[in-house]
Amino acid sequence: MRKILVCLPGNEILQNNISKILNIPIGDVDFHIFPDEETCIRLLFDCHNAEIIIIGSLDKPNKKMLPLILLAQTCRDLGAKKIGLVTPYLAYMRQDKRFQEGQGVSAGYFAKLISPFFDWLLCVSPHLHRIKNLNEIYTIPTFVLQATVEIANWIKLNVHHPLLIGPDSESEQWVESISKLANSPCFVLEKTRHGDKDVSIQMPDFKQWNSATPIIVDDIISSGQTLLTLAKQLVQAHFPPPICIGVHGLFAENAYAQLQLLGCEVITTNSIPHPSNKIDLSKLIATQLKSIQVD
Ligand code: R5P
Repeated sequence: MRKILVCLPGNEILQNNISKILNIPIGDVDFHIFPDEETCIRLLFDCHNAEIIIIGSLDKPNKKMLPLILLAQTCRDLGAKKIGLVTPYLAYMRQDKRFQEGQGVSAGYFAKLISPFFDWLLCVSPHLHRIKNLNEIYTIPTFVLQATVEIANWIKLNVHHPLLIGPDSESEQWVESISKLANSPCFVLEKTRHGDKDVSIQMPDFKQWNSATPIIVDDIISSGQTLLTLAKQLVQAHFPPPICIGVHGLFAENAYAQLQLLGCEVITTNSIPHPSNKIDLSKLIATQLKSIQVD
């Protein structure tokens, strides 16, 4: 079946890279926005009998969901045989339980919203914590990639004598793999979240590592408070401002500027386009795309 890559606005870099690696053509789409802010999707290519691979990271998901669903449904309506979703950043995974009485468990609701429109879904380092496997909530085949090798390679190339630090128990899964690959020591700390922008982190005595370059590794940088809190503690303990690596740089409000102000070097993958993108996921995603065969 012929494949065609399309993307949501803003995902052109990944789309173009993957198109080059796999030699898959790109289908142009016109996302017309009417004065009343409704969207009209127009495909500028023939999708009949093709497998359409939509690339769209779902940071700021509320605005992107409707155009995404309209795009998928337009492809289906115009004869696409299969529609896959490559969403390097999969949103809403952190609301995976009822934290407070009366709240919804959005991770599951979001999965129910997406699943009917796609034949498969691929994402990178989703926030799997209380939900252990995406198939617990998604009813379509899912493919989960980890950016651990790419992050470890960046560290090996750029940092002398690294000390890896995971800010909370959830980070253990990727920080430990990266530390093995990068052949560096690692610590996983305990974090307590008191509110959206209020966290506290228990830091052990790192004195014996004072000559190392601290690197905090996390999956998501959202308000930036997790990294900021730990970075400040490290500076107080006479370490240089740490390198902060996030798989997904959401950077709510002025999170990026605050981290830079503290002197931190902030590094992210290009799962979400941002000036801090230094780790390219194109090859990782393309390699997996080659082998996806869903009947
Ligand atoms: C949550 O536990 C995640 O792994 C991240 O640590 C968290 O999402 C970071 O959020 P923020 O940047 O708002 O502290």
